[in-house]
Amino acid sequence: MGEERQRCTAALEEAAKGKVVSIVSSGDPGVYGMAGLILELADNMEQKVEVEIIPGVPASCAASALLGAPVMHDHAVISLSDLLTPWELIEKRIRLAAEGDMVTILYNPKSSQRTWQIEKTQHLFMEKNPPGLPVGIVKDADREGQQVILTTLADMLDHPIDMTTIIIIGNSTTFVSGKFMVTRRGYKL
Ligand SMILES: C[S@@+](CC[C@H](N)C(=O)[O-])C[C@H]1O[C@@H](n2cnc3c(N)ncnc32)[C@H](O)[C@@H]1O
Repeated sequence: MGEERQRCTAALEEAAKGKVVSIVSSGDPGVYGMAGLILELADNMEQKVEVEIIPGVPASCAASALLGAPVMHDHAVISLSDLLTPWELIEKRIRLAAEGDMVTILYNPKSSQRTWQIEKTQHLFMEKNPPGLPVGIVKDADREGQQVILTTLADMLDHPIDMTTIIIIGNSTTFVSGKFMVTRRGYKL
């Protein structure tokens, strides 16, 4: 992190020489990954290079599968990183997601430098939701050290959260069934 532009520029320069070059992102390259930056930079280049985007499994889908089926209905995906996006806009999106009863997936929830954003997010959700709202926390999905935690809105900050963690906050129809978190699709059973 931090040298994305240089890496992508170097890759495009090599591609412009006729080489086949790969830029690898975790999960899907088009979800907070490098695909967008590559295409923005390629668009600015005089010499056009051919770009192919190969899809991957986003952390949100990996985490969702580990938790059960929390993303069965309308959902919002919000990154809490305010490095490239002003916090005011992030907060507006959080408020609207909470108000709209959206299942909400939080990327980039916390780093050693950014600690208050996840606390603020919890407070914003508490304004519109009961403290027992199910929350899933997945750290290092499908990687060594994977941790899957089912908790609640009130208790979510009692668990380890860092930059390789993704959080899924349920909506008003989300419930816990054994080890799974499930959001109702609306079927009459
Ligand atoms: C720059 S984004 C990359 C997202 C990635 N391109 C995707 O498709 O999911 C980095 C954030 O993705 C989430 N993330 C990526 N890999 C993860 C994993 N294996 N387990 C949990 N969260 C992950 C974390 O929230 C992390 O802060």
